[in-house]
Amino acid sequence: MRRRDFVKACAIGAGCAGLAPASLLTDDTLRPRHYERVRLIDSSGEPLRLGDLERNRNYVFPYPYRATPAFLLDLGTAVAGERPLRTEAGEVYQSRHGVGPQRSVVAFSAICAHKLAHPTPAVSYIHFREARGRGEPSTGVISCCAENSLYDPVAGGRVLDGPARQPLAGIILDYVAADDELFAVGTLGGEMFDRFFSEFEARLTLEYPNGDAHEAVTGDVAIEPLTRFSNNVMSC
Ligand code: FES
Repeated sequence: MRRRDFVKACAIGAGCAGLAPASLLTDDTLRPRHYERVRLIDSSGEPLRLGDLERNRNYVFPYPYRATPAFLLDLGTAVAGERPLRTEAGEVYQSRHGVGPQRSVVAFSAICAHKLAHPTPAVSYIHFREARGRGEPSTGVISCCAENSLYDPVAGGRVLDGPARQPLAGIILDYVAADDELFAVGTLGGEMFDRFFSEFEARLTLEYPNGDAHEAVTGDVAIEPLTRFSNNVMSC
């Protein structure tokens, strides 16, 4: 299924988990976007067990399209959610809680909201790193070394510093405690996917010779450590 055919903004009453009550929504409220519900699995093909995640380690997986990388992080501390956020276009939304037994697991699109730096097999300029003081949140930051944008993963990916003008888009997770399984189900925030496919079309054509870079991921999707996905993780 092609990207333009697939994307659909959730409507009230359409079964999209976590939507605000209708009375709280205004014209500039950004609704979550529902994509394929995919189960996250590990490199051996087994369902991902949250207890196997290493705290503060960068994991990546493709979502919601084959060519669009996302970060999965266990921050080791509860992520409260409900932080007010705003896109560059002025749309407002609330960040979401972390998931899992500790509510410590979060996911974000790994495409920088400034000029779209993102992990590739050759190099990654964007990654999560631990805090270095100087007022950074103690849980660490997502740092884009391309031009030094910093994002706060415990506050919905809000911009802490640098030229980015909106938070990283969040990936909405659904944790099924009974089965200890984790699913990605949608996005929340300012997506960069249209710009991404437009700006990197030439490269993606080479990397995805079957033309499936724009395909929505479905079924089971494997996560892997960023250091395995990318040969060169830049730090700054
Ligand atoms: S692309 Fe990330 S800061 Fe410019």
